[in-house]
Amino acid sequence: VRWGSTPIGDEIQERIRTRVGVSDLNAEDPRSRPARICSDLARLIAEEALSSRFTALDVACGDGLILRELKERFPEAACYGIDANVDQFPAHREVRESGVELFRVLIQDLFDGPPPVRLDVVMMLNTYRSWGDAGLSESELGLPQQVDAWLRANVRHIVLTMTRRQAVVWSAHGFGVQDLGPGEDESRLVRLTKVSRWRAPYEVARSLFGAGG
Ligand SMILES: C[S@@+](CC[C@H](N)C(=O)[O-])C[C@H]1O[C@@H](n2cnc3c(N)ncnc32)[C@H](O)[C@@H]1O
Repeated sequence: VRWGSTPIGDEIQERIRTRVGVSDLNAEDPRSRPARICSDLARLIAEEALSSRFTALDVACGDGLILRELKERFPEAACYGIDANVDQFPAHREVRESGVELFRVLIQDLFDGPPPVRLDVVMMLNTYRSWGDAGLSESELGLPQQVDAWLRANVRHIVLTMTRRQAVVWSAHGFGVQDLGPGEDESRLVRLTKVSRWRAPYEVARSLFGAGG
């Protein structure tokens, strides 16, 4: 698996600005990805659904700017990022200096075994929504299902950008789907949390994406 066309460099934020509307560099803007994720996590902490000493992993974290914001906002949290191109992004030096730990680990290896540490929050943005662009080889065609099973088994709060169709599947597995606003292009930024109260998948899909589509 290799998401092909990602720019390795500062231009990644230009791409995010085009797709999301606001770059991660504008973390003070409430519409930015880091602002929306941080305020959702702050709410979970206030509701005692998450410890302020949480652990978070960003899978295929790109330049890692969201992790840097998380670490700044929640200094007690342990923030980890994995990416195939760790230390190739110019921002990584600064991200590491902020206290974020970055590892060069491939997605296919991460999801091949149990999590190396307890993970309270796992993020996977601008990737999960389109496995079709991931260049999966014949032997990797089961990876999307493997990733879902791994996340369901091991992680309490999962932050993804996903399609309506993907949201319906998560909902059917008993996960609450909290809409955190626009994702890239047509996708939504969503936080999934295991809940006991069952909601009809179509009900969730409708609240996220409206009646059509
Ligand atoms: C589309 S970017 C998304 C970056 C980041 N999640 C974001 O939303 O800004 C895809 C990222 O996946 C990484 N990547 C591609 N194939 C990978 C693999 N097999 N294992 C780990 N990372 C991979 C790339 O280096 C790139 O940073």
